[in-house]
Amino acid sequence: MSNTIRQHLKGKVPEDLLSSTPSSFDILGSRSGAVAVIEIPEELESYEKEIAAAIQAVHGNVRSVLSKDSGREGEYRLRSLRLIAGDPDTEVIHKESGCRFKLDPQLTYFSTRESTERERIVEMVQPGEDILVMFSGVSPIAICVAKKHPGVTVTAVEINPEAHRYAVENVKLNKVSDRVKPVLGDVRDICPSLDKLFDRVLMPLPKGAHMFLAVALPMVKPGGVLHFYHWAPEDDPYDEAQRLVVEAAAEAGRRAEFIGGEKVSLYSPRVYKVRVDMLIR
Ligand SMILES: C[S@@+](CC[C@H](N)C(=O)[O-])C[C@H]1O[C@@H](n2cnc3c(N)ncnc32)[C@H](O)[C@@H]1O
Repeated sequence: MSNTIRQHLKGKVPEDLLSSTPSSFDILGSRSGAVAVIEIPEELESYEKEIAAAIQAVHGNVRSVLSKDSGREGEYRLRSLRLIAGDPDTEVIHKESGCRFKLDPQLTYFSTRESTERERIVEMVQPGEDILVMFSGVSPIAICVAKKHPGVTVTAVEINPEAHRYAVENVKLNKVSDRVKPVLGDVRDICPSLDKLFDRVLMPLPKGAHMFLAVALPMVKPGGVLHFYHWAPEDDPYDEAQRLVVEAAAEAGRRAEFIGGEKVSLYSPRVYKVRVDMLIR
């Protein structure tokens, strides 16, 4: 947490606890309205209102402050978020890299911390590609890619109806509805029914993406690329992820070759969310 926020908390939170105020929090939204999402350490729980007030005093655009009361859970990868201050309406329009994403963090997955990863994907895309984003949420990856590459088309499959509803709004908001097609449903049902193959397939579901490889691999054109996300230890980030893809490819009668990898973000101490880029033949 910034020194300015700690300054605001002086005299309101005991001096010995000031150093345990969270060092960072997420702000989703824009200048016209935002939501702060914060993880409050146990010893500071009785001061959560003071912490929220300090955040709102420093960030005038923060309308609501939500406390992370759990890790990401369930099929939709949602946290339990509790309103500790401000407006109960937590829908925002988040601005990032010239794109706008409407969403409610209580209803859908979205991470501001993945903006750099979205940029990396945008850089890898080649003109004219046809792309499939599985597990697409409110469609931030699909929209970033389509905005930057005017000749590219993207199909985005998401199972959470709220996330899909926002995805449909977001493609309109970003004027890419002619090239980004959000589809509501389980990738296991939707992908086989798409009846075409893609130059690039993304699997941004680190928890359990390997269980969907048999669905994803047949969707990749020969010579296309599969971006597979996984959790892995810091000292051996890509080995298990690439092995899972190579083995699933062999079972599907395909061949997979490792062509790149990225440590995307720190998930927990010494465990990274990683991406492996696999050429599929
Ligand atoms: C880690 S989130 C990523 C969302 C999005 N790609 C983003 O970057 O914001 C994974 C998403 O996959 C969705 N999901 C989980 N299982 C699914 C399935 N079987 N079919 C389609 N979507 C699924 C969840 O609802 C969630 O929105």
